[in-house]
Amino acid sequence: MLFVIIFCEFASPRLVCLGRIIFIMKIKSIKNIKNLAGKRVLLRCDFNVPIKNGRILDDYKIIKGLETVEYLLKKKSKVIIVSHLGRPDAAKKNAKHSLLPVAEFLKEKIKRPINFINDISGFQLGTAVSKMKNSEIILLENIRFEKGEKENSAVLARHLAKLADVYINDAFAVSHRAHASVSVIKKYLPSYAGLLLEKEILHLGKALNPARPLILIIGGVKLATKIPLIKKFRKKAHRILLGGALANNFFAAHGYEIGRSLVDKESVAFAKKIIKKGWYKNIILPIDLRVSNKKSFWDAHNKKINEIGKKDYILDIGNETVDFYKKYIKGAATIVWNGPMGMFEEQKFKHGTLSIARSLAVNSKKSVFSIVGGGETIEALKMTKTINDINWVSTGGGAMLAFLSKEKMPGIKGLVSGF
Ligand code: ADP
Ligand code: 3PG
Ligand code: MG
Repeated sequence: MLFVIIFCEFASPRLVCLGRIIFIMKIKSIKNIKNLAGKRVLLRCDFNVPIKNGRILDDYKIIKGLETVEYLLKKKSKVIIVSHLGRPDAAKKNAKHSLLPVAEFLKEKIKRPINFINDISGFQLGTAVSKMKNSEIILLENIRFEKGEKENSAVLARHLAKLADVYINDAFAVSHRAHASVSVIKKYLPSYAGLLLEKEILHLGKALNPARPLILIIGGVKLATKIPLIKKFRKKAHRILLGGALANNFFAAHGYEIGRSLVDKESVAFAKKIIKKGWYKNIILPIDLRVSNKKSFWDAHNKKINEIGKKDYILDIGNETVDFYKKYIKGAATIVWNGPMGMFEEQKFKHGTLSIARSLAVNSKKSVFSIVGGGETIEALKMTKTINDINWVSTGGGAMLAFLSKEKMPGIKGLVSGF
């Protein structure tokens, strides 16, 4: 027998029976902090949400982060929130990347004033912090406007640390980055994991020590970003079901005609390597496809891979593949899904992705533990109104892939051990 003990300092030890090794996962939880009342808390959130003309298009990440904010307010802390937004040029402030719309959104959601500080380096910030009363909130302007953030600068980290008594990382989605406000900052303050970070780790951890059979469904566009996941799970997963443009690279690597379908050289080379190394045994490619031969994608035909013409675009998995993949979903105990099965934004090519979403939702209510991540994949869940049926919808895209691939997670280092 193999045992996994996930031990959280705040909760009773969790025991997951798996095989023969014992894992002890310890999380430095926010719930361990005594006397939060009056404490100045530097809270790193990931409020990196899509914004257009000052309007937040998708509030999912913010909503998920509110639990920790509200916990701290209830405990009467003084909350100083740090986040990034987008990828601005360092030290070049611009309205497009401002967190001001997030400040407005928070104000409405939690029905409290938010003191938005747009100059982190000036006197304004120190003064504002010194005047804070319990259960008040300050939101700092986009931390990526500071040059030191992406450089993991100790100078910037110390500057932030001086503002607070405690540091909490709740920004799972950026915890794969060695940036000052998630990484080196932990050297300068007693540091803990926020409630969202803790949940991400506990739930994603279930894929690392899975109930079996474990099925991975991987689609989307860039194979290169998903290769580490395929590598890590090629033995652990019962099957890895591929779809989306990502599968095109494997078709091309096998020498099939793929017409005008989306591929990239680097990914085809990766696919060739995978095939050559014989890792292919449990990787499954679509058996039929939905294609268009018009640039406007208005026509759709079902084809087998050996029927693809020079002018075709492969834009979705076909019906037989959907049925085939559904059988695996039904028989799984754990499923991880990242990346749409096709160009689901187009009416005629959404069937594959949306069917997978629905099948996952139905089976999550039965015996499957489902984990889903990725910006567009979550969009597909929303389109099918299945987001609440999935067991864990990660706020991390790249971070989820990095965590599952057991890559370095500088934002988590020191907060979690034993995973
Ligand atoms: P996620 O953000 O969920 O991780 P990706 O960013 O990897 O997913 O990929 C999402 C995008 O992949 C979608 O916008 C979708 O239109 C596109 N896509 C999927 N399959 C295809 C395809 N066969 N051809 C072109 N684009 C595709
Ligand atoms: C994300 O959206 O995946 C995170 O906020 C990280 O953003 P980044 O890829 O710009 O570091
Ligand atoms: Mg994406």
